[in-house]
Amino acid sequence: MVTERHARFVASTPGSIGNLGPGLDVVGCAIAGLRDEVVAEWWDAPGVTVLDPGHADLPRAATRHAAAIASAAVSFAAGRHGVVAPAPGIALTVRKGLPLSGGQGGSAASAVAGAVATNALYGDVLDVNAVLECCLVAEAKVAARHLDNIAPALFGGITLIRCIDPIDIIRLPVPAKLRIILVHPAQRLSTSMARRALPKLVPLSDVTHQLAQVGAMIAACYTNDVGLLGRAIDDRIAEPARAPMIPGFMEAKRAAMAAGALGASISGAGPTAFALSDDADVAQRIARAMSEAYSVLGIECTATVTEVDVEGTTVRRL
Ligand code: HSE
Repeated sequence: MVTERHARFVASTPGSIGNLGPGLDVVGCAIAGLRDEVVAEWWDAPGVTVLDPGHADLPRAATRHAAAIASAAVSFAAGRHGVVAPAPGIALTVRKGLPLSGGQGGSAASAVAGAVATNALYGDVLDVNAVLECCLVAEAKVAARHLDNIAPALFGGITLIRCIDPIDIIRLPVPAKLRIILVHPAQRLSTSMARRALPKLVPLSDVTHQLAQVGAMIAACYTNDVGLLGRAIDDRIAEPARAPMIPGFMEAKRAAMAAGALGASISGAGPTAFALSDDADVAQRIARAMSEAYSVLGIECTATVTEVDVEGTTVRRL
């Protein structure tokens, strides 16, 4: 069932930490707070028209904007389902809440919001895995082909990407007391550049250690054990490769641990750093300590104490 010609939908999507520590490309969590929103409506021009890209530094070209690429993929998939649209094209208006190239899943959030709002126009003809596939098309084009931001952004919570081909997502329980400190330094780091820093070959001992940490993270979620989750944030693959690209990160991490963090690492591809706590007051202390560490180095930053977003993407008709 396709909605009528004048229908408009807005989807709202949270940011995410993906990967969460050692879960490179396989564990991510949605973050409460900043969101990207995309309004989708039918349009007389064919294809996808970006009415507002959401930020002066984001492209208006539909082939380069994550929301528009995902929206076009949804239209294509809906067409394969035999759906006949009531207008030649779709227009998108993006409201960008998440930072650009910040390591908080901004491109994934735009892709998910674009896909979900467009799917709503098509009467939700696509199931969640088909929506995820459409978001992956966008993420592969603007960043890299991974689901550890897209899946938590869509579902909320903490997700394990068991397999990307075919998609198999496992939604994990969220430890009740988990507090997340996010510190975003005034730096942009593109995912593609941060991925180029990743090693092509990894010593077997690092692989086995990383596997053990991911296993421990899953166990921590099911046993409601924030301490174990924190200990498991011990990434020996991405963090050592990327830390040199993020001035102040190592100092901020040391400050977080000294202030009582249970674990700390780079959020996704960076430059945002995150730390974990099970106590709201300690979390505030950690946020202050991390900010101070950046400040001493003359690096401006924004620190936030937040938690896992369990709502995921919402969509409503305007
Ligand atoms: N898992 C990806 C990475 C996320 O770390 O490269 C990038 O947004």
